[in-house]
Amino acid sequence: MALLSPSILSADFCQLGRDVDRVVQAGADMIHVDVMDGHFVPNISIGVPVVQSLRRHTDAFLDVHLMISQPEKYIDAFAKAGADLINIHFEAEGDLPALLGHIRTLGRQAALTIKPATPAEAVFPLLPLADMVLVMSVEPGFGGQSFMPESLPKLRALRAEIARRGLACRLEIDGGITLETAPLAIEAGADILVAGSAVYGASDTAERVRAFKAL
Ligand code: DX5
Ligand code: ZN
Repeated sequence: MALLSPSILSADFCQLGRDVDRVVQAGADMIHVDVMDGHFVPNISIGVPVVQSLRRHTDAFLDVHLMISQPEKYIDAFAKAGADLINIHFEAEGDLPALLGHIRTLGRQAALTIKPATPAEAVFPLLPLADMVLVMSVEPGFGGQSFMPESLPKLRALRAEIARRGLACRLEIDGGITLETAPLAIEAGADILVAGSAVYGASDTAERVRAFKAL
């Protein structure tokens, strides 16, 4: 069964605690936190203080997706704020092996994300340093976009390489995940589904979480 990481990007930020509790109580496995700097992506979302507030509010596992150009400046702050997993982009600036190692040194899980134009093979050398790889199935920056099926062969290639080398690295998919596209991603090898608008845009959020978990 795939794990579900609802993205609070589509939650009501005036009711964030309530919206987190709703999905956690319905069986969500983690909470996906989309951090955007207006530079790496053309949008600005939330940052360290919100992660800090979430940490005070919930024991849920916080899956923090950093869509920022210079992750090295903020990794320590997100770890201190209470992120359980810190996800940096392959396309970001910095010494990626050192940054992934540093995240683990801080006692947090380290993850690497690839944008739609980045081939799966680009991260093969870094797989032993990552607890998770996130394959973006939309261009990062906004919720509510359509799933790009080109992400499926990338999931398959990563799944095969992880199996071939006997690694423990997990695979997450993010962007356009719905009850229709999730089975395709699971079949291609995804362990963790991120879903924003499909969860928080549903008329009954809890029922939608349960539907994802039943896939
Ligand atoms: C997009 C973010 C996603 C976003 C997904 O840049 O990384 O996590 O919230 O939204 P949906 O599920 O609506 O495509
Ligand atoms: Zn995300």
